[in-house]
Amino acid sequence: MSKQKLIAIFPGSFDPFTNGHADIVQRAKDIFDEVIIAVLNNSTKKTLFTVKERVSFITDAFKKVHNVSTESFKGLLVDYAKSKGNCIIIRGIRATTDYEYEQQMALMNRHLSQDRIETLFMMSKEETSYISSTIVKQVASLKGDVSKLIPKNVLKELVKKYR
Ligand code: PNS
Repeated sequence: MSKQKLIAIFPGSFDPFTNGHADIVQRAKDIFDEVIIAVLNNSTKKTLFTVKERVSFITDAFKKVHNVSTESFKGLLVDYAKSKGNCIIIRGIRATTDYEYEQQMALMNRHLSQDRIETLFMMSKEETSYISSTIVKQVASLKGDVSKLIPKNVLKELVKKYR
């Protein structure tokens, strides 16, 4: 009997994708058969990069990794997740400050999916636990050095934005 593939969906705004996000994907790809990075497409939320740009940066960063792909999604995460079959949601936790927000989302997603979709949390590495997309944008906008905090291709685009 063939084993069903276990797919991990890693959702987020990724505005922009950071080394913290990349670390979660790097570790998840060795645990799950497939990792889908799901970029939220929400026209009411103001973002620095368009959804097309965000998907393209992440696709480019993982183009050599066979079991990682990137897509965008609209609407409820659980509906998107259900369309992928046998999957779970993964999220990174950096510190206790992330916990309340993550708990609320995980419980809401469990409720909305009638207990069908689980969320698993991965603890961020200590080296990346202080990195957030918001703080990266703030520092970059003030011409601070964020070169060690985000993938090279994202850095190039971020520098262009704030030039
Ligand atoms: O990187 P973020 O901004 O913390 O990611 C938040 C995200 C995209 C995971 C969350 O906003 C989301 O799932 N949005 C889709 C709408 C939805 O399903 N809402 C109900 C569950 S909270």
